[in-house]
Amino acid sequence: TQPPSKPPLTIRLCEPRGFCAGVDRAIQIVVLALKKYGAPVYVRHEIVHNRYVVEGLQTLGAVFIEELSEIPPEHRECPVVFSAHGVPKSVPADARARELFFLDATCPLVSKVHKQAMRHQRLGRHVVLVGHAGHPEVIGTMGQLPDGAATLIETEADVAAFSPEDSEALGFVTQTTLSVDDTAGIIRALKARFPAIQAPAAESICYATTNRQDAVKETAAGADLFLVVGAPNSSNSRRLVEVAERAGARRSHLVQRAADIPWDDTRGISVLGLSAGASAPEIIVNEIIEAFRGRFDVTVELAVTATETEEFPVMRTLRDVALTRA
Ligand code: F3S
Repeated sequence: TQPPSKPPLTIRLCEPRGFCAGVDRAIQIVVLALKKYGAPVYVRHEIVHNRYVVEGLQTLGAVFIEELSEIPPEHRECPVVFSAHGVPKSVPADARARELFFLDATCPLVSKVHKQAMRHQRLGRHVVLVGHAGHPEVIGTMGQLPDGAATLIETEADVAAFSPEDSEALGFVTQTTLSVDDTAGIIRALKARFPAIQAPAAESICYATTNRQDAVKETAAGADLFLVVGAPNSSNSRRLVEVAERAGARRSHLVQRAADIPWDDTRGISVLGLSAGASAPEIIVNEIIEAFRGRFDVTVELAVTATETEEFPVMRTLRDVALTRA
């Protein structure tokens, strides 16, 4: 007897998706540090928000910590890497005080936001940071400024409730991985309420966030299900799930691995949208496509909305190993 034929499924695969230049650089920094200095290399906070990446680096000899005090004194010479999300100024200061050797893997686009926030403050403005409370990037950006110099705004309701001391002296920046549309609404509300508020010199939401959201917007309409590969603590991945739903996908979910695919929701579907957050490796995208091939007769349609050429070089200290990389 013939095996039952599999139902057809079109997978609309978003391009660009997955790793951005900042994530790629941060991972390279840990890998190159391990190669140059040997294990252990300490990494403060998850280098990027992805368990698969973190576990892969652990097997190479990276040790993940939350605080510098966790580094034993006998390992003071071992490098410690700061994550792509950026750190408050107190962290490198603490590292110097402990005489640690640190490598800062903060994404250059996050550093740019830090500089814009500091510029506002230097010019006598109170800083409004649009972002999500508790996210390491927000903690890092707030930590560039003295206590009380910035206010975090998460929603339009926060704008309505915000009463600054001097509404003529305000400047805003945003987290790099926010929803482009929600942020535009919050900024409109800020400008309506505080017409004198100053924008940063350059857009804070990064190219990778914008491009991934645009690609999802283009492909989500008409998708029976939309899956985004990413971790629950990855801000940009979670935004992609929301964008997919708003752009017309019937359902959308975040999945970390193929094991998380909600098979109950795949019954009767014929179009699946698929993307990956900036911290999600391509190998998991492939794993998910393969899992669908097991149950469906899959056709993959690449939906290209932009071409990315950004590359961020690693710091000079590691360039010699970078050049000899196999
Ligand atoms: Fe940087 Fe944007 Fe990636 S800020 S780490 S390029 S998501």
